Amino acid sequence: MTLPLEGKVALVTGASRGLGRADALKLAEAGADVVVTDILIEDDQNLENTSESLGPIAQIMTQTKQIYTKSTTEQIREMGRKAAAFKMDVTDRSEVETVMKQVKEQFGKIDILINNAGTLDHTARIEDQNDGFWERDLRVNLTGAYNCCKAVWPYMKEQNWGRIINMASVAGTLGGYGQASYSTTKAGILGLTKSLALEGARYNITVNAIVPGIIKTEAFEFTNPSMRERMIARTAFKRPGEPEDIANAIAFLVSEQAGYITGAGLPVAGGIDLFTF
Ligand SMILES: NC(=O)c1ccc[n+]([C@@H]2O[C@H](COP(=O)([O-])OP(=O)(O)OC[C@H]3O[C@@H](n4cnc5c(N)ncnc54)[C@H](O)[C@@H]3O)[C@@H](O)[C@H]2O)c1
Repeated sequence: MTLPLEGKVALVTGASRGLGRADALKLAEAGADVVVTDILIEDDQNLENTSESLGPIAQIMTQTKQIYTKSTTEQIREMGRKAAAFKMDVTDRSEVETVMKQVKEQFGKIDILINNAGTLDHTARIEDQNDGFWERDLRVNLTGAYNCCKAVWPYMKEQNWGRIINMASVAGTLGGYGQASYSTTKAGILGLTKSLALEGARYNITVNAIVPGIIKTEAFEFTNPSMRERMIARTAFKRPGEPEDIANAIAFLVSEQAGYITGAGLPVAGGIDLFTF
């Protein structure tokens, strides 16, 4: 039996844990060879310093050894697929270009890009907004996705086929109290998605966004418990989603079967965006 993504090469950003890791495993399960990338990687000599500069969740994940960039590639190889892990900071344009070039050399092509890297580790009202976090969120969530799209574009264009998925959020479509920086970047992601969908169509490159609600990842567990309960209460299902819910939607959107879907922002949000009362 042929698997839906057999023969495809996928690259996932921010895949040391959470949704990125679940996506990498799901794409492999669907037949793709997968490149797992993250700014955090187990054997980085500089790991402590990097995580310190990234923020609170990264520091906890490093201290508790919850970084799975390399180990995820081992799981993928056990499924019989090719896999590689790269340290890649999405904000570093030249590092992004270098990694994409190395992937092209090692794997022959890049068919699928999942722009998953993101920052969701703080909330603050505008008067208390940390300016450094504002700048960082724009750089990682928005410019990071732009950098990766731009670097992969020539490869997809040349082969006249490509699939790009950008991670938005209901915080981008609905706004979020205390989430000015995060919401702004996620709303921006939808603009980037639609514009590139228009530009990509002539090369058979589809560009779509996933609009998650609240999904049970390490980052979600890190939120304030009472805020978490209020968010769960807003969903139609009265529960958060699982990383697999996102990965399943992505696996479909990057398949051949989804070739006529582009520029979409697909909510995978358990009805959190509905008029509940
Ligand atoms: N979990 C949710 O409820 C939820 C909801 C809406 C949207 N999202 C989006 O989904 C994506 C993944 O969310 P998650 O819950 O798994 O978050 P997470 O914080 O667990 O994972 C984010 C990953 O991005 C990596 N990263 C951070 N900065 C980076 C950089 N400069 N370069 C490369 N990698 C970097 C981190 O090391 C981490 O592995 C994010 O874009 C997030 O905004 C998540």
